[in-house]
Amino acid sequence: PAVEFGLEAPFSIDYHDSVGSTNDRARELAAEGGADVAVLADEQTGGKGRLEREWSAPAGGVWVSVVTRPSITPAQAPLYTLAAAVATATTAREAGVDARIKWPNDVVVPVGDDGAYRKLAGILTEMEGQPDRVDWLIAGIGVNANLDAEELPEGATSIRDEAGDVDRRRFVQRLLEEYDRYRTDLDTVVPTWRELALTLGQHVRVDRPAGEVVGDAIDVTESGALVVETDDERVTVSAGDCEHLRPV
Ligand code: BTN
Repeated sequence: PAVEFGLEAPFSIDYHDSVGSTNDRARELAAEGGADVAVLADEQTGGKGRLEREWSAPAGGVWVSVVTRPSITPAQAPLYTLAAAVATATTAREAGVDARIKWPNDVVVPVGDDGAYRKLAGILTEMEGQPDRVDWLIAGIGVNANLDAEELPEGATSIRDEAGDVDRRRFVQRLLEEYDRYRTDLDTVVPTWRELALTLGQHVRVDRPAGEVVGDAIDVTESGALVVETDDERVTVSAGDCEHLRPV
């Protein structure tokens, strides 16, 4: 395997050549009481995406799930998802990729300047807890790293395509360092998210549980919700799928 042990990471590493889903393995570790551990796999045979989608995860990518036990309420959990997105975009930028963030947590590379993009990485957060406190939280991060165009889903890109191959061991190390930095300094997450956002300044359509909203994406709140200005009101959207329609 190209990813080796000996990572100097701020988390202990649970490494697999091949696993169904690193998030599922992370759930097992969390249920056993594990904390501050990163599950890492060369390949996933049943990678999971958001909204019950499949996530293609062949060898060559970076597939990692970090288990933490933060002292927060479930309402603050979205901030950890944004932290993972900011950490991923920052690490990809160090690798020479113009990585930006599409709300809430897709790491994308712009194509042209009209809000179009290709997806480089995605985040799947899972958690368990009571209404007043989180028991454990898993940040599952998937980065199309050293993958060929033929190995990517439609609309995706890879670090290989954008900037050339990375040393995956080094990449994971930096990614975990950045995630650790942002999760321990949560106040810096939203300001950095704003700087990296591709969505702000776009006319968007957001599909959310309460129905569709179309308007201008003008900001994110301190808890990471998207503020959309429609013709007659300002709507704050805390969860949903966002489509860039055109620049404002
Ligand atoms: C998305 O739909 O954008 C989220 C994709 C998340 C994929 C990562 S890969 C590592 C971790 N394990 C999984 O099964 N999914 C996440």
